[in-house]
Amino acid sequence: MKETILETKRLSRRFGSLTAVDEISFVVRRGDVFGLIGPNGAGKTTTIKMLTTLLSPTSGTAIVAGWDVVHHPANVRRTIGYVPQLLSADGSLTGHENLLLFTKLYDLPAGEREDRIHNAIEFMGLSDAKDKLVRTYSGGMIRRLEIAQAVLHNPPVLFLDEPTVGLDPVARQSVWKQVEALARNGTTIILTTHYMEEAESLCTRIAIMYRGKLVANGSPAELKKSVGGNGSTLDDVFAFYSGGTLESEGGYREASRVRRTARRLS
Ligand SMILES: Nc1ncnc2c1ncn2[C@@H]1O[C@H](COP(=O)(O)OP(=O)(O)O)[C@@H](O)[C@H]1O
Ligand SMILES: [Mg+2]
Repeated sequence: MKETILETKRLSRRFGSLTAVDEISFVVRRGDVFGLIGPNGAGKTTTIKMLTTLLSPTSGTAIVAGWDVVHHPANVRRTIGYVPQLLSADGSLTGHENLLLFTKLYDLPAGEREDRIHNAIEFMGLSDAKDKLVRTYSGGMIRRLEIAQAVLHNPPVLFLDEPTVGLDPVARQSVWKQVEALARNGTTIILTTHYMEEAESLCTRIAIMYRGKLVANGSPAELKKSVGGNGSTLDDVFAFYSGGTLESEGGYREASRVRRTARRLS
């Protein structure tokens, strides 16, 4: 079995009376493309923020590449790349200038910076655009630049929060290709998404979050098998697990609201 590279145990985060992340426990192995999937408000971003040391847990533990996020946050930060849900590239700079900023932020040796930038630009398919202002980039190009920024220091673990939200299908495909290429090169990737087809096409493991809880966890095939196998889709998986949670809370109206949400996710 592949080595564990990330593990959470009963990880929780509360905001006042709201439990945004509720005792979630999971393991990510080296080389996985691990998808945290769930509707808006499920707690995906809050989870990613705890794993990237940007938000402290209320309780529970998380270990990333051998380091505890609470006790050794600086070591965690050195081993990860992070692409936040909101824009992180500066539109008034060129692609090359954005990347240069990040080589400084990561404290990469001056003599290595241009090589790293060149490699990242080539890898992300941005060579023709590197000297253009980012505000002239398409959404897909901006996302690819942001991923390039996040991997300049060759982190073994990369977090992508909703990497393709708002992108058209062509741009989405171009981001998927880059994510797949990074995974082939050995980067472990943890991504969040509320697009089932994204989870289906990219992820080797999937954890479904619903209202702060982890309601299912496995490979896409295992999850489909768990809800009936042949012919089941990840949409069925999602509806099954979120609907199941709701049924225990009772209430037909609530259940039908969730089914509608699940359908909208398709
Ligand atoms: N800083 C915060 N203060 C208060 N509530 C928050 C904060 N951040 C997130 N939340 C709440 O926590 C829940 C989970 O949010 P989030 O993790 O962003 O979900 P997702 O990324 O799955 O859409 C939501 O109800 C959200 O409103
Ligand atoms: Mg989010």
